[in-house]
Amino acid sequence: MGRLDFARCALLECVLRERGAVDWIAVGLSVDVPAGTVVPRRVNDTDMAIWCSAAGKLHAWGDRCPHRGMRLSHGFVRGETLSCIYHGWQYGMDGTCSYIPAHPQLEPPKTICARSYACNEQDQMIWVALAPTQAKTPDAEGRRPVRSLEITLPVAKVAEGLGHPMSSLMVLGGVYDLAVALQPSTQHSCVLHAFAGADQERKQVSRHLEKMRAELESADA
Ligand code: FES
Repeated sequence: MGRLDFARCALLECVLRERGAVDWIAVGLSVDVPAGTVVPRRVNDTDMAIWCSAAGKLHAWGDRCPHRGMRLSHGFVRGETLSCIYHGWQYGMDGTCSYIPAHPQLEPPKTICARSYACNEQDQMIWVALAPTQAKTPDAEGRRPVRSLEITLPVAKVAEGLGHPMSSLMVLGGVYDLAVALQPSTQHSCVLHAFAGADQERKQVSRHLEKMRAELESADA
């Protein structure tokens, strides 16, 4: 990692602390990133490429190729590596460049490395940590993911509207057995990932979530 990257990380950690950030942030349902695929996600204005190797290992990387900055989320998974779509540079599980097609005999320097973040799967949800953490990945206690909804509000406003202090996973009271995780996408928007008890009727829960979103957004209008 270069000096600029270190400075950026330090700045990011300061911003996260100021925003009351949590350790683990849900970025999507596991089913949305099956083996052999890569998808883009945004967390606290940081663009990420979330990818799953052929063997099913999940990774969260900065969405920027170390070569010329192409989005890695536009690339493709080959076995246990991720290849950039632009010039085909290939990156291994640890983020280091393992192959440069234009120089097949060259062993790429270890300094050519994609920015990687801690990434875990728990309760069929993908979680990432932007800064190093000792905290355990949140446990939904038997609840299952239902769906994800984009909300045009800052994450703090949503937590406030739900009447819940901000945490990685918030168990809500009410008619349904619900827990939600908030993904702060930008300063002005977030994604709500919802879990419900196994005995809850998914269509009803889904409608309830849409109503909840409409109420949150209209209360702030
Ligand atoms: S920009 Fe990714 S390989 Fe060139």
